[in-house]
Amino acid sequence: MAIDTNFTRPKIGIVGGTGAMGSWFAHLVEPVAERVFRVGRGTDLTPVETARRCDVVVISVPIADTIKVIRELGPLVSENALLMDLTSVKEKPLKAMLQYSCAQVVGAHPLFGTEGTSAKGQRMVLCPGRGKKGLEWLTKVLERAGIKVVAMDPVEHDQIMGLIQGVNHFSTLALGLCLVKSGFGFEKILNCSTRTFEQRLDRIKSMVKQPPELFESLLMDNPWAKESSEQYLDTIQTMLRIIRSKDREAFGELFESLGTFLNSR
Ligand SMILES: NC(=O)c1ccc[n+]([C@@H]2O[C@H](COP(=O)([O-])OP(=O)(O)OC[C@H]3O[C@@H](n4cnc5c(N)ncnc54)[C@H](OP(=O)(O)O)[C@@H]3O)[C@@H](O)[C@H]2O)c1
Repeated sequence: MAIDTNFTRPKIGIVGGTGAMGSWFAHLVEPVAERVFRVGRGTDLTPVETARRCDVVVISVPIADTIKVIRELGPLVSENALLMDLTSVKEKPLKAMLQYSCAQVVGAHPLFGTEGTSAKGQRMVLCPGRGKKGLEWLTKVLERAGIKVVAMDPVEHDQIMGLIQGVNHFSTLALGLCLVKSGFGFEKILNCSTRTFEQRLDRIKSMVKQPPELFESLLMDNPWAKESSEQYLDTIQTMLRIIRSKDREAFGELFESLGTFLNSR
């Protein structure tokens, strides 16, 4: 089958299209595609056939399986086709797509969850890999849907995600586990909660509703998440020292440095 080299109305195959983000992306690209194939391990159209036939091949499998899938499918994707992924980490998948395929390559990371999420006003990071046409096509599709495209270097992306997804989830989980350790029942804590604290409890609840593998991957498969979490621990130790020694001046300085940071945009 000939490849639509201009991506005028491409055939789009989403490996992982039966999952959460793959389905979300399928819905987004259906209006601009000749056809969208939502592929999983058990679908009639196999991932291998998808890689061979499609003009745009999207990898949207769990983070831990991504490199294995790219290694297997990358060599099958046509040179003029676009190979892209939606993985929440970017350095290793982008490297693998460039190494194992000769196709056009773009790494993408949707900065949102899938539940009830409309595209308008969302952000998506794009890491250019190889070729122009595929990148231009994807950028146009996203921007027309009202998604803000953030072009970024993959290493810098992973470093920042080490904070935004790493430290963020690390601290939410730690707060939840600290409440468990406190020995007070949830009901009692809830009855004494301020509105602001209720919002933090809601965040912990929504985290626990999702599969642990998601957070496990964000914390363990992004090498920068560990480094950022260690930095976070150092910060906590500093704060604890200041509080233990009742150093009010140093405490004020913490606020001052935070204020300077927040006003630095
Ligand atoms: N969910 C989010 O909110 C979100 C946000 C941003 C980015 N992402 C990224 O999106 C990607 C997918 O996450 P998800 O949450 O959509 O996961 P998910 O709901 O678990 O879906 C994973 C999909 O991958 C397929 N799959 C698993 N192993 C496979 C293999 N070896 N070969 C082919 N297909 C395979 C599964 O299909 P079968 O089980 O049918 O085989 C399923 O369709 C991840 O890289 C994640 O970082 C997700």
